[in-house]
Parts: sequence; C-alpha cells; structure tokens
Amino acid sequence: MGYEGPPFYDRDAVFQAYLQRRHRVDNPNDTLEKPIILELLGDVAGLDVLDLGCGDAAWHSELLEKGARSYVGVDGSENMVARARSNVGNRATIEHSNLQHWAYPENKFDRVTARLVFHYLPDLIPLFQNMHRTLRPGGQLAFSVEHPVITSFDRPGTGVREDWTVDRYFETGARVTRWLGADVVKYHRTIEDHFSALQATGFEVVALRESRPVEQNFVEPATFERRKRIPLFLFFGARRPV
Ligand SMILES: C[S@@+](CC[C@H](N)C(=O)[O-])C[C@H]1O[C@@H](n2cnc3c(N)ncnc32)[C@H](O)[C@@H]1O
Repeated sequence: MGYEGPPFYDRDAVFQAYLQRRHRVDNPNDTLEKPIILELLGDVAGLDVLDLGCGDAAWHSELLEKGARSYVGVDGSENMVARARSNVGNRATIEHSNLQHWAYPENKFDRVTARLVFHYLPDLIPLFQNMHRTLRPGGQLAFSVEHPVITSFDRPGTGVREDWTVDRYFETGARVTRWLGADVVKYHRTIEDHFSALQATGFEVVALRESRPVEQNFVEPATFERRKRIPLFLFFGARRPV
C-alpha cells in the first residue's frame, strides 16, 4: 500500500526531492503545464481565484501581478502549507485542509484552478459538486491532471524513460506508483471519466488540452524533442453556467 497525497508530501525526503524537481530547468510544470493553465484561466484581472492543492503556491505572485483581486490556496500537506504561507506572506490566504473535507464557501470565486492534484483523490463527483458551488455563476474552472497514459502504467521505473507501456487503460481506480523514493497512491481515470464527471455536475466543458510542447518554452532543445513523445498532462476548462 502506498501513501495518500498529503502524507506522501509530508515525508521530508519526498518533499525536498519534489521541490528540487519542481523548480529545475525545463521542468514539465513550467514548460508544459503552467502555460496552458494560464491560457485556460484567461484574464484574471479583478477576479477572486481559488487554487486547490496549491502546493508551495509559488505562482500566486504571477496571478496577483496579472491583477487578480485575491488568491486563496488550499492544501492537505503540512510541509506544503508551511512553504506556501512563507511564500505568500500577507498577500494571500493559505488554508490547510484535505480537499475532500474543506468547507467550500458558496458563490465565492470567479476562477477555480487545481494543478496536478485530482489524481490523488478517490472520487471526482463530490469534489466537482463543491467546485461548482463555490464558483459564482459564469465562473470558470481550469485544472490539470497526470495524463491517463501516464497514470495507466504500474510502477514505472526510475531514471529517464525510453519506452512507455500503456496497459489496463479501462481498469480505473487506485494504482500504487513509486515516485521520489516512496510509494504513492494515484487514481487512474480515462479522459472520458473526467469529461463525464464535469457534465454530471453541471459544468459546461469549454476546453480539453494535452500538454503539446511549444519550443519557445524550453531552454534545452533535447528536452523539447523528448516532450513530443508522449503527453504528460491532461487539462480541462469548464464553466458554471449563468
Ligand atoms: C504535484 S503537487 C502540485 C502542487 C501545485 N498545485 C503545483 O502545481 O505546483 C500535488 C499537491 O496536492 C496536494 N494534495 C494531494 N492530495 C490532496 C488532498 N486530498 N487534499 C489536499 N491536498 C492534496 C499535495 O499535498 C501537493 O501539494
């Protein structure tokens, strides 16, 4: 059995390894993931933004510089919350809570975002219902998850991977993966599962993306070439109808 998301990131060795990886040159989050999330969020000027599974919340400053009226981050890991609070100071609010138990305030936010966290959660429907409730009518959701071709392999090896075997694609649910030196539980879902959960909870789906690499976002040409091999992330943009 592996660790659930927050206790996994509360292992100090995992946390240090994660931060090192997260902020290295040409890391996938900054080259592939963030540009698409920003595009899906659109103009945030004057808007209240909620970031679920905010991690160290390092990008809060970018959203505030783009004119966001407020930023609230929620995360279940004590390590992440301590780092996030030190990053945001008094410019933003960070709440320490498991996303399954947070008291989502009604009609409070114009944008909800969640970057690479939903694959740690066992059930999308209650979560999507809560996001729908906490958005103001007309508000938008932009989230990323590990791509289903990534979550569908069991126990990927360590080091630079040269081949990928997608297997048991339609056997969805918990899979234990070794990552950053520890076993973690991630939930494998198909693209269709995400789409159906959005529709079932009243969202209007406005975008689906797959982390296609853009050359200008990379420092190293070899990394750009490598990122053309397989999609790492899946994204949805959705709206709470007015
Ligand atoms: C891969 S990190 C991403 C962090 C941040 N969104 C980013 O992109 O830099 C996943 C984050 O989700 C948080 N997380 C995982 N499961 C969670 C849960 N059930 N409730 C709250 N946070 C959770 C972890 O603590 C971790 O900070």
